Amino acid sequence: MGACNITVLLLVIMLWLPHGLSMGNSCSASVLEARRFFELENEQLRRRFHEEFLSGYNYNTNVTEANRQAMIEVYARNAELNKRLAQQIKASDYIQSEDADIRRQAEHLSKLGASALNADDYLALQNAISSMQTNYATVTVCSYTNRSDCSLALEPHIQERLSHSRDPAELAWYWREWHDKSGTPMRQNFAEYVRLTRKASQLNGHRSYADYWVQFYEDPDFERQLDATFKQLLPFYRQLHGYVRFRLRQHYGPDVMPAEGNIPISLLGNMWGQSWNELLDLFTPYPEKPFVDVKDEMEKQGYTVQKLFELGDQFFQSLGMRALPPSFWNLSVLTRPDDRQVVCHASAWDFYQDSDVRIKMCTEVDSHYFYVVHHELGHIQYYLQYEQQPAVYRGAPNPGFHEAVGDVIALSVMSAKHLKAIGLIENGRLDEKSRINQLFKQALSKIVFLPFGYAVDKYRYAVFRNELDESQWNCGFWQMRSEFGGVEPPVFPHRKGL
Ligand SMILES: *[C@@H]1O[C@H](CO)[C@@H](O)[C@H](O)[C@H]1NC(C)=O
Ligand SMILES: *[C@@H]1O[C@H](CO)[C@@H](O)[C@H](O)[C@H]1NC(C)=O
Ligand SMILES: *[C@@H]1O[C@H](CO)[C@@H](O)[C@H](O)[C@H]1NC(C)=O
Ligand SMILES: [Zn+2]
Repeated sequence: MGACNITVLLLVIMLWLPHGLSMGNSCSASVLEARRFFELENEQLRRRFHEEFLSGYNYNTNVTEANRQAMIEVYARNAELNKRLAQQIKASDYIQSEDADIRRQAEHLSKLGASALNADDYLALQNAISSMQTNYATVTVCSYTNRSDCSLALEPHIQERLSHSRDPAELAWYWREWHDKSGTPMRQNFAEYVRLTRKASQLNGHRSYADYWVQFYEDPDFERQLDATFKQLLPFYRQLHGYVRFRLRQHYGPDVMPAEGNIPISLLGNMWGQSWNELLDLFTPYPEKPFVDVKDEMEKQGYTVQKLFELGDQFFQSLGMRALPPSFWNLSVLTRPDDRQVVCHASAWDFYQDSDVRIKMCTEVDSHYFYVVHHELGHIQYYLQYEQQPAVYRGAPNPGFHEAVGDVIALSVMSAKHLKAIGLIENGRLDEKSRINQLFKQALSKIVFLPFGYAVDKYRYAVFRNELDESQWNCGFWQMRSEFGGVEPPVFPHRKGL
């Protein structure tokens, strides 16, 4: 008992002391001056973010050359101002301030990244990045069944084929077409991107742009931990991979899917092989316990895209969180417009002003988008929750965190219990076999994503660190996808694109 009390007492003192000390010191003239400095600078920064995201959104929801130019000009102008601020902070003693909050703000605002480049180089970098975005957003391919119809976009046309076609030749066609047409024109821009980020790293005194990225995790051991975690997961992934390969061989025969080796990525229902659950009907462990088709039920009940977002909004409110503001409904782009080109890849936006938050996404009514809607609304809710913070803190504490917030929420939304609660399925209690089916389905998206995400990061780190010669950029990527994920392109070697 006695020891316990002493521990409690010590804890209380330890908790109290630093707080008391910091209170005392915070009143010093230099801390007050620093507070004032960062208050003003955060307000300027907030305005810059506001302007950047407005022009970025304008481009993303209306992909034209004029909008692209307008966006990169705003970025370039603001980069100069960010650079000036960083120089001012470095010339001051804010980074050594006795006040932890000031030290942290100073540290964050003096990390420059690409803004360290001179104005011309910075503009060239933004030009390379946005050119890749434009190309990705606007690329179309020719139809397998009608080669003179070359108007098929990734979302929704090609994805629809990858999800529903079971003809390996057709699947390989779309995979190759899309990679040739999206990858080949990017090569030069990607090389420019690598060259300029290397230059920025040198200016900042980082060994590489990978080191610049990794430091945001604030853990010098981050990469080793990442490797160790992946290694731990690998045996489980191998089992999943082996089972899926076996079921694919049953379906397609040994010529298309041999017993050993990699799975041709075009068979997996997703352009990057990052999620395999479009093919659930081929793999269901207990086919006699079929999944209830939520999409059919949605159609029967007259679901609209608007309704999906309203359901999401209600869900967050039921957790005691904030309702979506009226401007969200006015200013979001929730379906693919037919009068302009848009970047369809779903994204959630914070405009750093008056709770202005929006989603841009080419939503359709099915269970995949039901999930994505909740995921994106997770980002939105996070924006709303931290909007009182100074601009420098209005972001995730590390690059992984924002995605986790949305996914944690979205995962529970997909549970049978919740689907029953909103009237999409009748039975919210699963028996053992249905439960295994359900878990298997989760694994096909959540576990399968990990070797993909891991390979992409390892690849980018290797490119940034110059560990892969430029002539090896393409085949290096596929070596990693093969080594970590056991998948390969339908035709190999894939020379033309990236
Ligand atoms: C798209 O942007 C262009 C400017 O590049 C503008 O003229 C056009 O009105 C915009 N379209 C829509 C629908 O906003
Ligand atoms: C093939 O596509 C072209 C161009 O869109 C169209 O004019 C033609 O009617 C299509 N042919 C068939 C058989 O659908
Ligand atoms: C949303 O649009 C309506 C109709 O166009 C308008 O009356 C309202 O002021 C807008 N609200 C916001 C928050 O922008
Ligand atoms: Zn996300």
